[in-house]
Amino acid sequence: MSPTPHIVVLPGDGIGPEIVGAAQRLLESLGEFEFEEHLLGGCSIDAHGVALTDEVLAACRASDAVLLGAVGGPKWDTTDPDAPRPEQGLLGLRKGMGLYANLRPVRPSPALVGSSPLREERIAGTDLLVVRELTGGIYFGDSGRDGDRAHDNCEYSVGEIERIARTAFEASQRRAEGSGRKPRVTSVDKANVLETSRLWREVVGRIAPDYPDVALDHLLVDNAAMQLVSRPADFDVIVTENLFGDILSDESAMLTGSLGMLPSASLGVEGAPGLFEPVHGSAPDIAGQGIANPLATFLSVAMMLRHGLDRPEDAARIEAAVDAVLDRGLRTLDLAVGGEATVGTEEMTEVVLKELAA
Ligand code: NAD
Ligand code: IPM
Ligand code: MN
Repeated sequence: MSPTPHIVVLPGDGIGPEIVGAAQRLLESLGEFEFEEHLLGGCSIDAHGVALTDEVLAACRASDAVLLGAVGGPKWDTTDPDAPRPEQGLLGLRKGMGLYANLRPVRPSPALVGSSPLREERIAGTDLLVVRELTGGIYFGDSGRDGDRAHDNCEYSVGEIERIARTAFEASQRRAEGSGRKPRVTSVDKANVLETSRLWREVVGRIAPDYPDVALDHLLVDNAAMQLVSRPADFDVIVTENLFGDILSDESAMLTGSLGMLPSASLGVEGAPGLFEPVHGSAPDIAGQGIANPLATFLSVAMMLRHGLDRPEDAARIEAAVDAVLDRGLRTLDLAVGGEATVGTEEMTEVVLKELAA
């Protein structure tokens, strides 16, 4: 890696440019970074007719890390199967960069337990990680329309399941180090119905003995959705396929109080650049108003520093600064309950920067 990290920045659409701009200021306050900005998503469709150009994919592959806002919006929403969609850009990037492992940590900030619609005593002690398979399954199978029918195929290979299962087991071992907690992986599938899920369960079970210190259990996805809100603190690492992981992670976000709090890291093979982005989308309903919560993106920057740039101390400083400003009562609109005073993106950014400089 070059001494000055080379970061490709993809603001995208909707609130993307607002939160990514704030995140660049955060990075700049920590040291020297080279930024190279490109179009992805709807803005790229407007400029080039496609959501991801070859040039942008090549730039991402050649970077040290990629920081993404979000893509999509009503302007490009269509049910026409032949029209380009912003989301194709994101999927093309994930596939093209080989980012098969998506880590979505759910660690409610202590100050926010009152912001969640769940009761405090349910959330207390929640600290889980969703490991979502990101380049397979129904997202990437053959799909199409044939007269009055449509199909989306779901396929998984043994190799695809094995590598994501290893990511999950290893993540749970790492999380246990020094924390005293017992590592546990919960594999989520729909093995009572789907053949891909039966293969998933078989493969995860087959490699589990390589990690004898990690307890493994299996849950059906409908049950998992229920247990995530009834006993979230019992989970450690959840590993699941692409579509289930998408849905369960938005559900888990509400344990933290808002989708605006949940970060993610998308990783490929060791040494390849990762992509770091908030879990939420382009939030067209609040775009351009200066009220988006930038904290999920800040926490994604922390994940970039930890997983992508080998700067764990800086990552921990960002996480501590976020906790500290929340502890002081600062709230963006999505986090406010019962008429609490709110701040916008700009003010939230300023206070986090000030906290980091203190
Ligand atoms: P969304 O995540 O954009 O928004 C859902 C709700 O959460 C909205 O009410 C929004 O205002 C709120 N929200 C999200 N992020 C917030 C933040 N940082 N601060 C405050 N409030 C926030 O989901 P959606 O509305 O279903 O999707 C909108 C578009 O985003 C769609 O085109 C979708 O495909 C796209 N999308 C993109 C990504 C991505 O780029 N990674 C992820 C999810 C959705
Ligand atoms: C996410 C998003 C994407 C997904 C969309 C925008 C393609 O919802 O990153 O969670 O479904 O993976
Ligand atoms: Mn999603």
